[in-house]
Amino acid sequence: MQTITVFRGDGIGPEITDAVLEILDAAGAKFNYEIFDVGEAVYQKTGEFIPQKGLDSFDKTKVLLKSPITTPIGKGFRSLNVTLRNKYDLWANIRPAKSNPCLDTLFKNIDIVTFRENTEDLYVGKEEVIDDNTVIAYKIITKKASRRIIKAAFEYAIAHDRKKVTCVHKANILKKTDGLFLSIFEAIAKDYPQIESNSLIVDNTCMQLVMHPQQFDVMVMPNLYGDIISDLTSGLIGGLGLLPSCNKGDTHAMYEAVHGSAPDIAGKGIANPTALLLSSCMMLEDLGQQKTSAAIRKAIDAVFTDKTCLTPDLGGHASTKQFVQSIIDHLKKD
Ligand code: NAI
Ligand code: MG
Repeated sequence: MQTITVFRGDGIGPEITDAVLEILDAAGAKFNYEIFDVGEAVYQKTGEFIPQKGLDSFDKTKVLLKSPITTPIGKGFRSLNVTLRNKYDLWANIRPAKSNPCLDTLFKNIDIVTFRENTEDLYVGKEEVIDDNTVIAYKIITKKASRRIIKAAFEYAIAHDRKKVTCVHKANILKKTDGLFLSIFEAIAKDYPQIESNSLIVDNTCMQLVMHPQQFDVMVMPNLYGDIISDLTSGLIGGLGLLPSCNKGDTHAMYEAVHGSAPDIAGKGIANPTALLLSSCMMLEDLGQQKTSAAIRKAIDAVFTDKTCLTPDLGGHASTKQFVQSIIDHLKKD
């Protein structure tokens, strides 16, 4: 049986991790788990945000189901998420935003997959104080990282029978950095004549997403725009509690919800575990357990259709535990 590493995270992290593991068990997922507490609480006890044993486990299992971690604020701390993405060169951040017809959402028929470059751009975290008046941040764009994420977006489009890939950029102002990303996109698009391609400036993209989101299919972009645009797409389909993601490299993969540790609702027992649950479905599908994933997706649809067991972020009154029980009840019915 495949072993996977699990990080329980901060804030709502432990609540949604436990919820998802309970559902995976009920659905008959074939995994052994190596589970680790990570984040602020661990740091207070041990001085490490992520225990070395947890990293050793991920080194070995190559698959990580990860809950959100609070980004420590203070001098010398870097986002642990960015650190993990860089350490394992998880260069593709794939975020599918699909509207669920069983939910009342702002829009229907949305099926957008964002490919976010995950290793560079402003997220290299290199900032300098020049003098009393001026600070600068480095925006790094390389041919290598741009090529692999753009190619991955087109390959995904082919493999999943998608029609169009849109490149998001600001090359009109950032002529060298985003200009490079865009020119690589235009060159690679020529290798995929069967897929429609276009490019849009990021500000116009935001307006188009809010006015006519159904025009988008697969989207590819540098790191910062990917972070922002994917939160926007989550709003189109019902909020952050619903958006899953996978961070993939050549050897390792990390599955996580797009949202953060939600300190405003942590410990209240009302977090929506769907985003992490759908991330675990992406993991099941990548690891050949399609049937289990399909059963979980079907149970989610049933709970959303029924509407009596929705968490408060979706307009309901259910606790995380009630939501989980309702999913498990539907799994048992099949
Ligand atoms: P957030 O995503 O944690 O929360 C934004 C809003 O969405 C809050 O009102 C929250 O209650 C709600 N929300 C998020 N997930 C939800 C869920 N599953 N169910 C119900 N409501 C949910 O963003 P925020 O507050 O800006 O960040 C909190 C911390 O998380 C920060 O330290 C941030 O750096 C970190 N973070 C970590 C991420 C990760 O580990 N991948 C990603 C994003 C943020
Ligand atoms: Mg984000």
